[in-house]
Amino acid sequence: MKTVKTVAELQQAISAGKADGGKVGFVPTMGALHEGHLHLVRRCKSENDICVVSVFVNPTQFNNPEDLEKYPRTPDADCRLLESAGCDIVFLPGVEDIYPEPDTRVFDFGTLDKVMEGKMRPGHFNGVAQVVSRLFDLVTPDFSYFGEKDFQQVAIIREMVKQLNIPVQVIQVPIVREESGLAMSSRNMRLTDSEKKDAVAISKALFQSKEDMASYSLKETVDRVIAQINEIDSLDVEYFEIVDSVTLQPVDNWSDSENIVGCITVFCGQVRLIDNIIYK
Ligand code: PAF
Repeated sequence: MKTVKTVAELQQAISAGKADGGKVGFVPTMGALHEGHLHLVRRCKSENDICVVSVFVNPTQFNNPEDLEKYPRTPDADCRLLESAGCDIVFLPGVEDIYPEPDTRVFDFGTLDKVMEGKMRPGHFNGVAQVVSRLFDLVTPDFSYFGEKDFQQVAIIREMVKQLNIPVQVIQVPIVREESGLAMSSRNMRLTDSEKKDAVAISKALFQSKEDMASYSLKETVDRVIAQINEIDSLDVEYFEIVDSVTLQPVDNWSDSENIVGCITVFCGQVRLIDNIIYK
């Protein structure tokens, strides 16, 4: 595995691999890697000739400076894990490599970023679009892999790719869960042992709601999921919305759309966890 830090080194490493017509796969990350990321990397490696992974904690997607400062940074461990997962090139840029000039672009995603995470974290998706479009420019991947846990993020990235006409195929990879059902996340490492046990109630409520969907209306399902999770002292649901998977707009009835997903955010103590369930 090659470790590169500058744009020049990155482009030299990629062009060597591309020269023989090799396909480039790309997994952008913010580090603090876990099995969920490694799953993306293995899939990327299995479907491409060159697998590139970036590790960059992007300042423009944090609306809270304290969150940015507290974000876990574990580059040595990340590199060891990436090597074991088959990554060919790891890109560890500094802020000056990604943003030689401040990025002042403001994207218009219509209603896509006005709901759920976009509503709770204003400016977050604009920052995600800035960094991912910049990384796509530098890496020029054929395929790029994103975890379905950040369901709204994938929808925004697809829209950005469409608007900017970037020749990359965005691949959405299903959530990787711990044996308990808890969705894997870098934030899980901030949970105490007892919070981690409590947090299992989130996926349990989501799975149960899918099993029961024929017996309850969509609105009853929302109420039941929220009540089931809030029953646990350490858990506090911020939102649970059942939406059309493409437009991300709320739906009122199960029959309103062919593609429906339920997206949830829950505080477990101080840690904000997200998860989702695809109903159909
Ligand atoms: O999902 C993430 O880790 C980040 O939002 C991403 C896509 C790497 C952009 O910084």
